[in-house]
Amino acid sequence: MGMIISIINQKGGVAKSTVAINLASVFAQYSKVAILDTDVQGSLTQVVEDNENLHIIQVNNLTELKTLDYQVIVVDTPPYLSNQLPQLISISDFIIVPTKAGVLDSLALKATVALIKSSIGALPVKWGVLFTMVNTSSKVIDEIKVFLEQMEVPIMKSIVTQRVSYVRSIIDGGILKSNDLKAKSEIILLAEEIVNELEN
Ligand SMILES: Nc1ncnc2c1ncn2[C@@H]1O[C@H](COP(=O)(O)OP(=O)(O)O)[C@@H](O)[C@H]1O
Ligand SMILES: [Mg+2]
Repeated sequence: MGMIISIINQKGGVAKSTVAINLASVFAQYSKVAILDTDVQGSLTQVVEDNENLHIIQVNNLTELKTLDYQVIVVDTPPYLSNQLPQLISISDFIIVPTKAGVLDSLALKATVALIKSSIGALPVKWGVLFTMVNTSSKVIDEIKVFLEQMEVPIMKSIVTQRVSYVRSIIDGGILKSNDLKAKSEIILLAEEIVNELEN
């Protein structure tokens, strides 16, 4: 049974699908990885090329995920609070909540955060907010962090900056194929942070 990493934010355009495909491609260097796109209008299925270590999967029921022979399963989700989310959250090992590093963006996290907290309850599911498309000063991010900490939201150490190479990475089959070393290292650090969190 592999680790299930779910990418959740009810807001669209926050880089959920971009993080999903790139994170999956980094794990696929060393592990057998599956991507599940639970967005019915999802586009990942159309852009990700199956390869030896990276499979696009579909399931009839989320409970099947626990029985599949993958080391890592990355689950992309739609830009709304679907009724599948509580179940998905409860079977996940780690939940990434990507968001832009803005004040309004952080306020818009409230419903997602409330759903995650109530669905986790006493389960040992770890999660964290990931700042994506970052181009703001670190001072702004620090202020937003304080705000999120007041909402008792865990914040990931990794960040994903705003870079054209991420836009291209979707067509090119993942950031590892890019020559943007900064972008590559961001996603590798993100993968490492998740593995470290799950080992603790
Ligand atoms: N780090 C980034 N830098 C620049 N553009 C990005 C980045 N991440 C995503 N994008 C672009 O932003 C848009 C929304 O990203 P997407 O992954 O589709 O978001 P979501 O799945 O949350 O709706 C896409 O056009 C994508 O190429
Ligand atoms: Mg998406």
